[in-house]
Amino acid sequence: MRVLVTGGAGYIGSVVTEELVRDGHEVVVYDSLYKGHRESVVPEAKFVQADLLETEVLRRTLSEHEIEAVIHMAADSLVGESVEAPAKYYRNNVIAGLSLLDAMREAEVKRLVFSSTAATYGEPAKQPIEETDPTAPTNTYGETKLAFERALHWYEGAYGLHYASLRYFNAAGATELCGEAHDPETHLIPIVLQAAAGTRPHVTIYGDDYPTRDGTCVRDYIHVIDLARAHILALDILDERSAIYNLGCGGEGYSVLEVIETARKVTGREIPVQTGARRPGDPAVLIASSDRIKGELGWQPALQDLTVIIESAWKWMQERQK
Ligand code: UFG
Repeated sequence: MRVLVTGGAGYIGSVVTEELVRDGHEVVVYDSLYKGHRESVVPEAKFVQADLLETEVLRRTLSEHEIEAVIHMAADSLVGESVEAPAKYYRNNVIAGLSLLDAMREAEVKRLVFSSTAATYGEPAKQPIEETDPTAPTNTYGETKLAFERALHWYEGAYGLHYASLRYFNAAGATELCGEAHDPETHLIPIVLQAAAGTRPHVTIYGDDYPTRDGTCVRDYIHVIDLARAHILALDILDERSAIYNLGCGGEGYSVLEVIETARKVTGREIPVQTGARRPGDPAVLIASSDRIKGELGWQPALQDLTVIIESAWKWMQERQK
């Protein structure tokens, strides 16, 4: 299939692109490089550097490359920033997304995979979280992702667009080529590995008084390759129907302390820690039920062991520092 990947120079987008190319799809990456990295785009993919709000470039790209499906991953994704700068999040996650949908309508592209988030659920009432559970975002990031999901629902009814909205839990790990490098970095695993590498003095644990097994927050970490494979499986439903799928590994998840301990074993390094205050808006536990995507698409995580996830991220980080 000829696939446009928006945000394909970002962390998850670059791995999705890698996997699409590996499966023989023709890929055009569309990325402004405002946060993405040009070197993360595999050489086999075509590359267009532009913003989604450049509607003329977007329209031309869809038609010139005869795009058959879009995987839409371009977004702002920092929870804290989203609360301080909601205008930026509405512009980049909702208005820019609608610009994409309108260009798709004109080019008659009717298949879309959307990167959504567990943040659409807010503070969940029960674990594991199912797609049928209520959505009640507690930050602008989750709210804007949910707003776009709702737009997809109405566009489907009116314009015949089919979509798969993938609600990611905690993406982590790396491939040989692509890994996580945000600036500023806010995610736990890269922060822990920076402390192991000595490029950061310590890790601050955001709260150790949560009602969890060791007092620290529990999350459902999913290897970015397992996440990427789900996007490719999701392309297959889009001739027929739309769906919303959670993407996590389920089980018991891992606490912040368990992540740090595993990283100590993987790296063989000291990882200094300090305990700080809770980070506003952090739910105590977020665990996915991914039964729906397992049952409907046969998706299974192959790399759910946290040691494997952290090893891949550590290897990538060390290669990059050479
Ligand atoms: N944490 C620390 N110290 C740090 C960084 C994180 O203790 O320096 C803790 C957080 O409090 C949280 C856990 O580690 O309990 C994981 O934090 P991340 O920032 O790595 O990930 P989040 O669970 O906050 O965020 C993820 C995605 C977001 C998404 C969110 C949904 O990265 O994009 O899940 O709730 F919005």
